[in-house]
Amino acid sequence: MSQPLHDNAVGVRRLGFGVSGPHGTPLVRPEATVAMIMNAFAMGVRVFDTAPAYGAGEAERRLGEALARLPTYEPIVSTKVGLKSSGLMKRTHEFEPENVRRSIEGSLRRLRRSRVDWLFLHGPPTSALTDALLKTLVDLKFKGDIGEIGICSRDHALDAALATGQFTLFMAPVHIGLPPNHLARLERLKAAGELIAIETLAPAKRRFPAPVSAGATWQLARSLLGRAGPVPPTPMTVEEALNWALHKGGANRVITTTTRLDHLEFNVYAVTSPSTGRLITA
Ligand SMILES: NC(=O)c1ccc[n+]([C@@H]2O[C@H](COP(=O)([O-])OP(=O)(O)OC[C@H]3O[C@@H](n4cnc5c(N)ncnc54)[C@H](OP(=O)(O)O)[C@@H]3O)[C@@H](O)[C@H]2O)c1
Repeated sequence: MSQPLHDNAVGVRRLGFGVSGPHGTPLVRPEATVAMIMNAFAMGVRVFDTAPAYGAGEAERRLGEALARLPTYEPIVSTKVGLKSSGLMKRTHEFEPENVRRSIEGSLRRLRRSRVDWLFLHGPPTSALTDALLKTLVDLKFKGDIGEIGICSRDHALDAALATGQFTLFMAPVHIGLPPNHLARLERLKAAGELIAIETLAPAKRRFPAPVSAGATWQLARSLLGRAGPVPPTPMTVEEALNWALHKGGANRVITTTTRLDHLEFNVYAVTSPSTGRLITA
């Protein structure tokens, strides 16, 4: 008979690792990204999120390289469709069925998988949620190319996706200081599927040191380009911010990224430490 997971194992299963940002650029060496993914897996992390838009496929290639060295069925592989990026400055939406099919073919090739476990629409405008797109996603699911269908957004496109009844995964900012209408939306999403938190560390950013890591440099560049979400007025520690998202914010999981092993270890500790591990299983 299988044993119930220890508190800590349950806690760490709620932390995902994002292969994004600097992990798709020369700021981080490909071997360093692969090593970080392997370390995260060794610490118990099982969800790995990426997108073709991160480094125009480079982040997916690096995740594919790591996946080739990990047990096939254990990690949950999450990627996205609909946002095409050629560098930091140029981004276009591509949610037409033809483009979506082509994008998934490319992702499967780079990830070295026959199936993407979680597929998210990457920041779609509400107008992109057409019947043709939904039919394409459902067809891909029946074909076995994708497992669950999700949406990643900060705005009312989340409500539009919820209304279709086809989405079971909702990736959205979850942190203190969000407006009440977004918090109410998170409640509705959670009632319909799995709520996956991003931008969780936003309240801790005021306390981050000067941008000495590739990750911090990347975040600074995003802020300068207006791509980062707002920094909440209530500062928190990293541990508080992660646990706020999981307990007060109601997230089923949190995806964070880092370029530093000590930060990865800390984030794993933060969701599994004795004080929080109990709360996590409650
Ligand atoms: N934000 C979005 O628009 C978005 C959209 C779709 C999906 N996602 C997914 O969400 C993932 C997370 O992205 P996010 O934007 O939400 O960022 P985040 O994980 O909240 O923050 C990442 C930043 O926090 C720093 N950091 C991480 N752990 C730390 C620690 N223990 N102490 C101090 N600094 C720490 C990292 O720098 P270091 O490298 O120095 O640790 C990096 O600058 C992405 O990888 C992606 O998979 C995000």
